[in-house]
Amino acid sequence: SIDISTLTKQTGLTTLDYGFVNTAATKSAITYIDGDAGILRYRGYAIEDVAANSTYLETAWLLIYGSLPTPTELAGFENRVRRHTLLHEDLRRFFDALPHTAHPMSVLSSAVSALSTYYEDSLSIHDPEQVELSTIRLLAKLPVIAAYAHKKSLGQAFLYPDNSLSFVDNFLKLNFGTKAEPYEVNPVVSKALERLLILHEDHEQNASTSTVRLVGSTQANIFASISAGINALYGPAHGGANEAVLTMLQQIKDSGESVEKFVERVKNKEDGVRLMGFGHRVYKNFDPRAKLVKESADEVLAALGVQDDLLDIAKELEAVALADDYFIQRKLYPNVDFYTGVIYKAMGFPPRMFTVLFAIGRLPGWIAHWREMNQDPATKIGRPQQLYIGEPERAWPSA
Ligand code: ACO
Repeated sequence: SIDISTLTKQTGLTTLDYGFVNTAATKSAITYIDGDAGILRYRGYAIEDVAANSTYLETAWLLIYGSLPTPTELAGFENRVRRHTLLHEDLRRFFDALPHTAHPMSVLSSAVSALSTYYEDSLSIHDPEQVELSTIRLLAKLPVIAAYAHKKSLGQAFLYPDNSLSFVDNFLKLNFGTKAEPYEVNPVVSKALERLLILHEDHEQNASTSTVRLVGSTQANIFASISAGINALYGPAHGGANEAVLTMLQQIKDSGESVEKFVERVKNKEDGVRLMGFGHRVYKNFDPRAKLVKESADEVLAALGVQDDLLDIAKELEAVALADDYFIQRKLYPNVDFYTGVIYKAMGFPPRMFTVLFAIGRLPGWIAHWREMNQDPATKIGRPQQLYIGEPERAWPSA
């Protein structure tokens, strides 16, 4: 087999591929997707099985190290993560310098970028022990940073992590506990959040993962690479879609516009309006994660006794869109984030935290890809070509 860079050198040919629709930038053994058949597998395991049987940290191990951990390995991994949840006190104060109105995604990427200033002892990309330490630090500290971003926006005091709790329960307490009252984790919320995080853990070469790999290909440290990935996730065409879906549903509700009329506006591309949470670059039949999330939405809202008009509007939108030729012809189906916002809202998270939850979910995938890239001897700095369409050489005007 011959790779494209060799072919390019031999033939002088360059492919122009906006959005990298047909260009593979790497080989990878982490995640398999068949977009036509709606198949997603982590290291060979069907996403349905992983979501039903695993935990966030066990799935992280699977993605990063390639196989399921033994019970002893998993317990050791969980303990190690638990021991690294505390943030440096100066980093706690870092939040004081940011406005309370800051979007939590901006806070998250800034704080992760700042991790490389506090943890200079684990920045090497070549020393396996340092890579391991950074991996653990990121898994342990990202949820704490995320919860502090939430608390900051509420004007509430930060809590210290409670290391007697599981990963997800600790995260819930950091977000919803206060210093004034004891906090009881609701097991329905905990189980549902764990499942949603697992569903987001990896999705091969999506925009944020490709960003992590591109930045990492310059030999930048893992904190810098993942901070860049968080910024890529922020956009509404990617992870920001979960917040945008809720905004869209709320606007439909508040305006009293019928779902049919809204869909007409989408089809007419009025002001570039899109049906957020619909469509996917790879899935052209259905997104297997969306199916699981929709089940969770019904379960969680029923178990919490929440009745939300926005869930009804979402279901109506899905039904109208799936029966419409515009969406059928373009193979547009609900993606993973069509229903997540309704669940996160029922759990008590504000919409601005939704993409932050996606980032915590995606973190193990970003780490796995960064590590895979650095272990691959074929890795080269990412440097796309361009086709120049500007002016030919021009003479500088004489005075
Ligand atoms: N609503 C309305 N029309 C859409 C939508 C949508 N959500 N998505 C795509 N289309 C239309 C486009 O207008 C285009 O129509 P045309 O052929 O008449 O020009 C056609 O479908 C193809 O669209 P592209 O933008 O070329 O598809 P692409 O694969 O580049 O985009 C994307 C995929 C970005 C996900 C797109 O479907 C979208 O913007 N969806 C809404 C945002 C969203 O939910 N993003 C989350 C993605 S999943 C994730 O990151 C977890």
